[in-house]
Amino acid sequence: MSFDLSVISHKNIILAVTGGIAAYKSAILVRRLKDAGFNVRVVMTRGAQAFITPLTFQALSGNPVHTELLDPEAEAGMGHIELARWADLLLVAPASCDTLAKFAAGLADDLLSTLYLATNAPVWVAPAMNQQMWAAKATQRNLATLIEDGVHVIMPDAGSQACGDVGLGRMPEPEELAQQVTEYFHKAQRTIAEKFGMLAGKQITITAGPTREAIDPVRYISNHSTGKMGFALAAACYAAGANVTLIAGPVSLDTPNGVKRKNVSSAVQMLNESMQMLEQGCDIFIATAAVADYRVAQVAEHKIKKAGDELNVALVKNPDIVATIAQQEKRPFMVGFAAETRNIEEYAAGKLVAKKLDMIACNDVSRADIGFASDENAMTVFFAEHYHLDKRDLDKASKQEIAQQLVEAIHTALHHNPAVEEDF
Ligand code: C5P
Repeated sequence: MSFDLSVISHKNIILAVTGGIAAYKSAILVRRLKDAGFNVRVVMTRGAQAFITPLTFQALSGNPVHTELLDPEAEAGMGHIELARWADLLLVAPASCDTLAKFAAGLADDLLSTLYLATNAPVWVAPAMNQQMWAAKATQRNLATLIEDGVHVIMPDAGSQACGDVGLGRMPEPEELAQQVTEYFHKAQRTIAEKFGMLAGKQITITAGPTREAIDPVRYISNHSTGKMGFALAAACYAAGANVTLIAGPVSLDTPNGVKRKNVSSAVQMLNESMQMLEQGCDIFIATAAVADYRVAQVAEHKIKKAGDELNVALVKNPDIVATIAQQEKRPFMVGFAAETRNIEEYAAGKLVAKKLDMIACNDVSRADIGFASDENAMTVFFAEHYHLDKRDLDKASKQEIAQQLVEAIHTALHHNPAVEEDF
C-alpha cells in the first residue's frame, strides 16, 4: 500500500533514545523514519550514550543530537523549550524503566524528562527491557499512570532477549514502528480532510487504465494507457476527503492508500462496475480510462490458428461508459478526459457537449513529453457552458500536481453552481 508522502514531509519527530541494548535498533529506526519523509531530531539520555554514540544518530538524522539540558552551546542552537515546540511527536524508543518512572513521577532532571513535560505533542513510548523488569510491579504501575496521562504505549514483543531470558520486553522492529508512526499521521490527516477537504464526504468513482478486448483465449486488443493519471487523481481526491473507488483496467500500479479498487478487463465489465457504483450512490464520476472503442464481435472459443495471408476480425462498437452514466436520471458530476493529436480544443469542446459532461480535461498526445506512459502531463480544462467558467490551462507538471489542480477545478465548478451539487 502506498502513502501520499506530502502529508509526512513537514512532520517533525523527536526520537528519544534511552539506555537499553535495543538502542542499536533506534539507529535503523531513524533511517526508516527519514525514508518515510519525516524530519527527525534525536535526543539521548546519558544511559543511551553507554550503548551507542551521538555521532551515529547525528549522521543518520542529519541533525545535531541533543543530550544535555543546560548545555549553553546546545541551548543556543535549539533550546529545550524550542525543541519541545518543534515536535509533532515525541517517540521514546527504547524507553527504559528509569525513563518511564521519571515520566510517571513528573521529574525534570535531564533533557528528556524536561521535554516530556514541556511538549504538547503526542508522546509514544516503546518500552524495552528485561522481562522481569517489565513484569515488575513498579514498572506496570508507572505504565498505568502514563496511559492514564494520555501516553501511547507500544507494547513490547515477546521472544529471546539479549540477557538470555525469554519473555516480554523486546522493542518492536524499526520497520514496524516507522509504519505505525506513518499510519498515525495519515489517519490524523484523513480526519481533517474528511471535515475540511475540498471534496469532503463526496463519493467518487474513477475509471482508469486501458481495457482489454479479447480476440480469443490468448489474444486481445488494447492500448498504451498506464493508468497513472487516474491513480494520481484517486490519491488526490482521497487526500481531499472523498471516498474513492477506482475501476481499473489491467495496469501494474499500487492502489493509493485509502482508495477502494475494482479490477476489470473489458469495456463492458468497466461499464457494469460503473453502473453498480452509480446505484450505490456516486456524486462525482471521473473517466480517465482509455476505453477501447471497439470489441471483437465474436470472441473465438479456441486459439485462432494461422491460415492464409489475411485474417479479418469483425469489431463492434463498445458502449461509451461516461456518456452512458451521464444519461442516467441521477447523474453525478461528470468529468471526462480527451487525448487528442490535433484540433484539441475543438474536439474536446465537442465531446463535452456530445457526452453531456460537466467538465473535460484534454491533452495533446502528439507531444512525446506528456500524456500516455509519461510521469508528466499538461492539460486544458473546459467546463459545461452553464457554469460560466473560463477554460483553465494546467501547465506541464507531474501527474500528481495536475491531479491536485483537477481537484481544485472540480471544487470550483461544484462551488460555482451549488444547485448542481444539491441535486446529487
Ligand atoms: O471519445 P473519446 O474516447 O475520446 O472520449 C474520451 C472520454 O470518454 C474519456 O473520459 C474516456 O474515459 C471516456 N470514454 C468512455 N467510454 C468509452 C470511450 C471513452 O467512458 N467507450
